[in-house]
Amino acid sequence: MLKGRHLIEPENLTIQEIDEICSLAEQIIVDPVSFQDVCRGKILAALFFEPSTRTRLSFEAAMLRLGGTVEGFADASSSSTSKGESLADTIRVVSSYADIIAMRNPKEGAALLASKYSNCPIINAGDGGHFHPTQTLTDLLTIRALRGTFENQTIGFCGDLKFGRTVHSLTQAMCRYPKNKFVFISPKELKIPEYMIENILKPNKIEYTEAERLEDVIGDLDILYMTRVQKERFFNEQDYIRLKDSYILDAEKMKLAKKDMIVLHPLPRVNEIQPEVDDDPRAAYFKQVKYGMYVRMALIAKLTGAL
Ligand code: NCD
Repeated sequence: MLKGRHLIEPENLTIQEIDEICSLAEQIIVDPVSFQDVCRGKILAALFFEPSTRTRLSFEAAMLRLGGTVEGFADASSSSTSKGESLADTIRVVSSYADIIAMRNPKEGAALLASKYSNCPIINAGDGGHFHPTQTLTDLLTIRALRGTFENQTIGFCGDLKFGRTVHSLTQAMCRYPKNKFVFISPKELKIPEYMIENILKPNKIEYTEAERLEDVIGDLDILYMTRVQKERFFNEQDYIRLKDSYILDAEKMKLAKKDMIVLHPLPRVNEIQPEVDDDPRAAYFKQVKYGMYVRMALIAKLTGAL
């Protein structure tokens, strides 16, 4: 039963619930008209304390396409936070108005905290460098559509694996399916955090390797997940400038990859995928965007109890 639950990190959902959400998203894709009124009369509050285009707009589009309405703010300066209101109070207030809240906050743990004070479901739309479970549902639906399975995949994560919350979330999710292998490709400074290795990879006996050069490993991958270097989480601009162009995927490198590999990216991209790759049939990042809206429709319908 998903009605009334919070979604703070991917592990809050069982594998069966993930299947249920993906299956509903697939039904919506085939016949969106049948779902256009299921949230009529319900309100989604989109509380974005940190900038976002895709995630916020896709939550809003998802609720509107279900026949519901949306309220909220797109940056903290236009909320009472700028007057000094605590997150707990903001959530107490907003959850008295809304049926469901999607929240993004720069602080790790903010969504979990919010869930303690909320009278309605909280969806974590990103808490600092921590987790981003609806991006993970987006990635999973894309993988299911394009690879046909969540099992036995070699997944390469490339770029900023230290601060990239989408990487942490998808790793946590894919570790739960059998026979997946991980290749973490990053500069030394942006390696996958120790807590991911100690809390998730090792206890689950997951096979993984670390690499510094994309060219050396791209040929082994079924899924290549590219990421942006997360400028906003650096303490020092010089470090960002030095690391920002560590990886650039281009047509040359794509020649080394398998014919059926798919390239994912949560977007926004900066320089890490050259536009020439966009026309390659293996480039799946714009399809991924569309899946993101449908999977959020399915999630909102389930958590609000509309379906
Ligand atoms: C990601 C995020 O916000 O973590 N974007 C997104 O949700 N589509 C990735 C990023 O900002 O690099």
